[in-house]
Amino acid sequence: MMSLVSSFYDRADNTLVEGFLERGYVIIDVEDRSALDAMRHEIVAAACKHMEAVLPSDEDAFLNDLHDVLPVEKLNALRLGLYRAINDQSWFRPTYFRLARRALETLVGNELAMQNRINFSIQMPRDRTSLLDLHADVFSGESPYQVVEWLPLVDVESTKSMFILPRRKSEAVTARMNEFGAGGMKALYEHVKNDLIWLTVPYGSVLIFCPNFLHGNVLNEESTTRWSLNCRITGLFTPYVSPEKSLGAFYLPITPRPVTRLGMAYQQPAGFDE
Ligand SMILES: [Fe+2]
Repeated sequence: MMSLVSSFYDRADNTLVEGFLERGYVIIDVEDRSALDAMRHEIVAAACKHMEAVLPSDEDAFLNDLHDVLPVEKLNALRLGLYRAINDQSWFRPTYFRLARRALETLVGNELAMQNRINFSIQMPRDRTSLLDLHADVFSGESPYQVVEWLPLVDVESTKSMFILPRRKSEAVTARMNEFGAGGMKALYEHVKNDLIWLTVPYGSVLIFCPNFLHGNVLNEESTTRWSLNCRITGLFTPYVSPEKSLGAFYLPITPRPVTRLGMAYQQPAGFDE
């Protein structure tokens, strides 16, 4: 009977790992659908409270059709109000993490740090206020050792979603970035636009992507409003690249293991110092 093993990895993880390494992102079913539904319900309820509206019978339609009932000038106030009200809830980050916990443990590690706040993005059809041009987060001083957990609250696809340039193409074009000099990111976008993947992420799925690769969004040309949340997850013991993005402030430890806790609590007794 053969009992020896030749890999440190769990065979079951291969599809997820290979897909992520190949493309730079994965889209999976959330790992706890009832937690997602409960979280979305709380967000809808908080939005209704902010708007002084009655709770809708169809939450999906309420979110998709927000532009029918809220003037675009009031959108940012709603977004900020939700950001504050929901991030104040002690269940928000643990619930959000739970939606992708096993995948994050496989892709990032089992001792993790998570961004201290989860961001809200709401994009009404043809609203120009919250666009995020082609970029890679590392260009603006983010850690290269992280993923973004990106969760839509409604079905998204095409311009209602976001785009990413898959890993190999992104690496190739980033290496030649200086050639786009004067035209900047606009020229770069023209160069790569045919290779961009517009991510189809139905409600009930979650996207995990590596923000080292080029990504962004454009004007929402669909007829319904996009709602999405995003949050950064990194390995607890990875380099923290700037004071603004440090552990204990921007990132908070979420899953330190017992040996780490004991190690951090350990104090060398006197006499062993030299
Ligand atoms: Fe980004």
